[in-house]
Amino acid sequence: MNAVRFAGATRTRELPAACAELADRLHATALAELPEDEVRGLSERYDAAVAGADTDENEILRLLTRPFSLRLDTPEYYRYTGMHVTGWYLARREDPYEASLLLVHALVTDLIALEEREAGLHETTVEEGAERVSRLRAVLDHLGGSPLGPDRTMASAESVRLAGHDDTLVRDLLVVNRCSGFRRSDKHDEHMFMRSVQACEVAFFLVRWTARRATEAVGRAPAEYALRIRQFASAAELLNVVFHALRTLTPELFMGFRDATGSASAVQSLNYHLMELVVYGYDERKSETYGRFAHLAPVNSLRLRRFTSLRDAAAGSADADVREAFAASEAPLHVWRGRHYGFGRRYLPEMTGSGGTEGAGYLKRFVGKAGLPSGDSIDDTEQLLTRFAFC
Ligand code: HEM
Repeated sequence: MNAVRFAGATRTRELPAACAELADRLHATALAELPEDEVRGLSERYDAAVAGADTDENEILRLLTRPFSLRLDTPEYYRYTGMHVTGWYLARREDPYEASLLLVHALVTDLIALEEREAGLHETTVEEGAERVSRLRAVLDHLGGSPLGPDRTMASAESVRLAGHDDTLVRDLLVVNRCSGFRRSDKHDEHMFMRSVQACEVAFFLVRWTARRATEAVGRAPAEYALRIRQFASAAELLNVVFHALRTLTPELFMGFRDATGSASAVQSLNYHLMELVVYGYDERKSETYGRFAHLAPVNSLRLRRFTSLRDAAAGSADADVREAFAASEAPLHVWRGRHYGFGRRYLPEMTGSGGTEGAGYLKRFVGKAGLPSGDSIDDTEQLLTRFAFC
C-alpha cells in the first residue's frame, strides 16, 4: 500500500513513521467498530496536530484524524469518505483538471493491484474478481482518452508517465491514497465501493469545473467552448465507466457492509448538488433535501443561483453546433442518473435510503432535469462555484 503506481514507473515515498503507523491501523480496522476511547484519542490527536507546528508530520496527521474530530461538526458522508484529503491535494495543484484525472488514475491503479493481490481470498470469486479488474482497466482506458487539448489526450501526452517523474506529485498522490479509503466494515468489497465514491466525487467536480469554463466560453471563445464541452462529456462518461465497474458488487456483497456505513449517504454531497446547479440550474424539487443539511445551504443561496447554467447558456446560443454539443455531452449524465436509479432498485428494493429519503423512488424523481431556472451571471470572478467542495 505504500507505493503509488503509474504505468511504467513505481516510486515509493514513505510517510513520517507516526503517520504511516496510524494509516496502517486505520486501513486494517473496521472503523464502525473502533472503541469510543480510541475515537476520543484520535479526536485529541487531531486537535494537537492543528495546534502544533506546521510540520510535514502534523499536516498528514491532520488529514488522517480530521474525520474523528468530536469538535468539528462534520457531516457523516464526509467523515466516511474523507473528501478533505482530495480537497487538500487539489488545492496544491495549478491545473485541477489534469490533477483530478491523475488522482483517479492513481486510486484505480492501486485498487486493481489490491484486487489482484487478494484474488480469491474473499467472498468474490476469482472469476468475478477478474471481471472487476477488467472493468477497472476500462476506467484507466477512459482516463487515457480524456482530452487535455484540441489534439492531446492523457494518453498521447503521456501524462501518467511524466507524473511519475514529479516527486511532489507522486508524494501527494501517496498521501491521498494512504489518508483516505478507510472502510467501516471488515469486508473486502467495501474497497471497491469506497474508491468508486471517491472517483465519482472527483468526476462531479470535473463536470462542474469544465461546465463552468464552457459556460464562460459560449459566444465568446468558440475553440475554448469546443474543448471544454469535450472535457465535460468525458468527465460525465467517467461516471458511467465507474458505475460499470461498481456493478461487480453484488447486492449481497453490498449488504455485507451497508449497515456499517450508517447515515453516510451521498445525498449530502455538496460537489454533486453544485454540479447539478452549474449544469442545469436550481432544482426547486430538492429544496427540502438541501434544507435538511446545514452544509448544503450554498445550493439554496440566491448568490449561487444567480449564475447561468450551462444548459441555458448553450440554449441561448445562435450557433446550432453549440446547442447540439451540449445536448450530446449532457447525455451521459442523464444515463448515469438512470443507472443510479437502477442501482437503488437492484440493491435496495423496497428499502429506504441511508440519507433519509424513500430510496430508489427519490432517485427516480430526479432522473429528468427539464425546465430548471438559472440566473444571468456568467463570470465567476470570486470563484464561488469553481473549487472542489467538501466539509
Ligand atoms: C450500490 C450502489 C449505490 C446505491 C444502492 C445507491 C443508492 C442511493 C440512494 C437510495 C440514494 C437516495 C438518497 C438516500 O441515501 O436516501 C442515493 C443518493 C445519491 N447517491 Fe447513491 N447509491 C449507490 C452508489 C453511489 C455512488 C458510488 C455514488 C458516488 C458518489 C453515489 C452518489 C449519490 C448521490 C450524489 C446521491 C444524491 C442524488 C440526488 O440528490 O439526486 N451513489 N444513492
